Amino acid sequence: MQKQWYIGAVALLATAGSLAFVRAQEPAEGTAEAPAASTASAPNPQPIQFPHDMHAGTYQMDCQYCHFSAERSVDAGLPPVSTCMGCHTMIPGAQQPEEVAKIAEYFNNGESIPWVRIHKVADHVHFPHMRHINAGYECQQCHGEIQTKGVLVEPDPVWGQGKMGWCVSCHVEQDVARDCTVCHY
Ligand code: HEC
Ligand code: HEC
Ligand code: HEC
Ligand code: HEC
Ligand code: HEC
Repeated sequence: MQKQWYIGAVALLATAGSLAFVRAQEPAEGTAEAPAASTASAPNPQPIQFPHDMHAGTYQMDCQYCHFSAERSVDAGLPPVSTCMGCHTMIPGAQQPEEVAKIAEYFNNGESIPWVRIHKVADHVHFPHMRHINAGYECQQCHGEIQTKGVLVEPDPVWGQGKMGWCVSCHVEQDVARDCTVCHY
């Protein structure tokens, strides 16, 4: 079904060949996104070795305690340094105190932590987290079992590489909107 749909999209594109977003994508090529693209060769580029399994697994912290805007905004959001400090002024870390110490450094310098972005769709695509969370999806449906992972380096296979076929096949299954303009600016 996915393939059939794709052929349809290509045909449609041939007739509407000047869609602005196709062009808009080009200048971005090879510019800003470079660090994310290099994650495969650099196994662990994160500035702090933040373990999801410890926080969301062992200590069962709610995902939205840190990704605070997932149910009300387009972006899930990343926690500010002050959220980390809320606990780590008291918790030095038993195994990797040097990683925890970096938190205070960023905080005292008034800097945010320069996390490397892992999940990203092209700039011409609109993905609203809140619509999906409010439809009842768990984070794990699209991101995998994050609460069992150490430092995140790459997307889980269930993320479908953020490709159009992945989005559209679920929209077809769930009978939700799939006009081009629903997802494309
Ligand atoms: C204590 C705070 C905290 C909790 C709790 C937490 N996260 Fe995170 N999460 C982070 C931080 C910090 C990052 C950025 C560093 C990284 O990518 O690991 C992040 C990154 C992510 C990313 C990747 C973002 C990107 O760059 O694409 C996903 C997906 C994610 N978290 C999902 C979850 C899910 C699902 C849960 C619950 C099972 C969860 N998180 C719980 C702090 C948290
Ligand atoms: C609700 C409290 C809480 C928050 C908020 C929190 N942590 Fe933690 N964190 C912990 C606990 C508890 C541990 C386990 C400490 C231990 O085992 O010594 C931990 C462990 C860690 C470790 C591993 C240290 C080690 O020695 O095992 C790192 C790195 C870390 N946290 C970074 C962060 C960062 C970065 C943030 C903000 C994005 C954050 N934490 C937010 C409670 C928290
Ligand atoms: C229906 C699939 C889907 C679900 C459910 C989902 N995400 Fe995402 N997530 C994505 C996609 C797609 C992106 C990339 C979005 C982009 O580049 O604009 C993303 C990006 C992210 C990011 C990085 C950028 C940002 O938005 O801040 C974080 C963090 C994240 N998701 C966390 C979560 C958490 C936490 C949950 C559950 C509360 C969740 N996601 C549920 C598909 C999903
Ligand atoms: C696991 C299934 C699933 C996946 C994967 C998924 N979606 Fe959705 N999406 C839904 C559902 C269900 C809704 C309807 C939510 C509602 O009724 O508000 C929706 C709604 C939307 C909407 C709002 C539609 C409207 O009518 O305004 C947009 C935009 C959207 N999705 C974009 C995306 C994009 C882009 C991707 C891939 C990066 C994606 N979705 C992946 C299930 C999914
Ligand atoms: C449910 C969301 C969704 C719908 C509906 C949708 N697209 Fe897409 N589209 C995407 C995503 C996600 C990507 C991939 C972005 C990426 O690779 O980061 C994409 C990529 C594309 C690309 C670029 C291909 C490439 O290789 O980057 C074109 C062209 C495109 N879509 C055309 C269309 C047309 C034409 C329609 C309507 C027939 C359509 N799309 C409907 C989500 C959607």
